[in-house]
Amino acid sequence: TSVLLPLRMAPGYTGLNPVPDAILISGRGQYNCSSPTAGTNKGDRLVIKVINSLGEAATIHWHGIFQRKTNWYDGVPGQTQCPIPDGISFTYNFTLDQSGTYWYHSHFLAQYVDGLVGPLIVHNPKDDPYYNLCQDEYVVTISDWYHNTTSVLLPLRMAPGYTGLNPVPDAILISGRGQYNCSSPTAGSNCNSNVTAATYNVQTGKKYRFRIINTSAYAFFFFSIDDHSLKVIEVEGTPVKDTDAAIVNVLPMHAAQRYSVILTADQPIANYYIRATIPNNCVPRPNNTINNDSYITNATGILHYDGADSNLPTSTPYPLEDLTPCEDLNATAIRPYEDSPPPTNLTDEFVFNITISNNTNNVSVFEINNSSFEVVFNNPSNQRILQNGNFDDFETSQNAYGYDHPDGCVQITLLNSLGTEHPFHLHGHVFWLIAQGNGTDPKNLTTFNLVNPVIRDTATVPGRGHIVIRYIADNPGVWAFHCHIEWHVELGMVAQLIERPTDFSKETLPDDVKALCVAYNSSINEKR
Ligand code: C2O
Ligand code: CU
Repeated sequence: TSVLLPLRMAPGYTGLNPVPDAILISGRGQYNCSSPTAGTNKGDRLVIKVINSLGEAATIHWHGIFQRKTNWYDGVPGQTQCPIPDGISFTYNFTLDQSGTYWYHSHFLAQYVDGLVGPLIVHNPKDDPYYNLCQDEYVVTISDWYHNTTSVLLPLRMAPGYTGLNPVPDAILISGRGQYNCSSPTAGSNCNSNVTAATYNVQTGKKYRFRIINTSAYAFFFFSIDDHSLKVIEVEGTPVKDTDAAIVNVLPMHAAQRYSVILTADQPIANYYIRATIPNNCVPRPNNTINNDSYITNATGILHYDGADSNLPTSTPYPLEDLTPCEDLNATAIRPYEDSPPPTNLTDEFVFNITISNNTNNVSVFEINNSSFEVVFNNPSNQRILQNGNFDDFETSQNAYGYDHPDGCVQITLLNSLGTEHPFHLHGHVFWLIAQGNGTDPKNLTTFNLVNPVIRDTATVPGRGHIVIRYIADNPGVWAFHCHIEWHVELGMVAQLIERPTDFSKETLPDDVKALCVAYNSSINEKR
């Protein structure tokens, strides 16, 4: 009613009284959850009790959520909290002062790859310029999928002397459903070749908002819907300018990236394939999936027009040959809806170099500025700063970088000396992406896009390339900055940004967050 009443009482209002959204019998009702009014709204407080019955520790991270004044609910073990031990519950409690397409996932080891992920959609009926444009909205997740759990895959990858590739996915899922060739020797006895594809219904002439989230551990995708163009209207919480450049046939998406697009149901009544495709030259190429032609590997869903039969689509894919794989969507397609140039006066500047080296077990690991990140679970960085007011006691292997200028402008230059790309995610912020391209010589990085650059929270640094980002230091706390390829996280491609320790150390850690570390430490001691 804090929203409804002021709307009703607004000067000049001539509409009806507020109209109910649902009906309850004894407090319970039915609702079409794909409706745009389901879920959370900007301004809501989310209180989420996580009851851990997994048989192992866990944490939940709310990807893209700023966590202002609640750094300890960001869900990063070793940086913002202790892991939640098995058998213990922990309540996350934070306010949504933003809106858009987000997701949540475990941040404990590679656990999210085993399925602990979901979408987190925050609506904004007041200020979203595209809020009322669509008949309905759908959330689509696209993801790689592994037939072994990470409890098998990770130890293999980390075994002394291992020289192979990172784990390669076995299949692709669209909204949790995929296709698999069950006659393949690796299929296993649970293989089901008749799973219905993810299906989305539309009515001729109407517009639909699709929120697409790449929840992969590893995979880059080309996402498309046969015979339909997609108009990009949101990138990771920021509405996008309404231009012709924002209309695409194929959407490139790296791990953890999100877009909202509008699809207009303007084609003949029929069924059309929805496709998530890993290009051949983007690592990794899945094993044993069907649709395994020479160029691509893909999974399909179905766009179903009301009135169409139930036969499989006969539509054909958009050509991918002319697209450059493994790169983010062209910057001109996704300019912020409202012009918002980044500040030009920098207060803090960092240059991070990504390299590879062999650790003491002769396993190849990743380094940022010659240091591979090592997590310390039982003594989170933010709690140490709240106790000490600084981060002097951090080990160099914890890749901590501090800056202490209130509302200053921080610039990070990320240089990738490796041959493959890395989708980097910054916690606690969105950033302006002011440069992205080939080359790793900082001397050549002199021209920046400062006019109306893309704003997002996950951007891909190309192989032997760079990105340069800027953001405002308006959120004291400890924020992870890492490649979102989960195998690379486990191999150390992680930094922690210590934002305004002086101000942060004045905040008060809630008792339940403190108690969690006590519980975690005793769970560790029991096991010893
Ligand atoms: Cu989506 Cu550090 O996470
Ligand atoms: Cu990476």
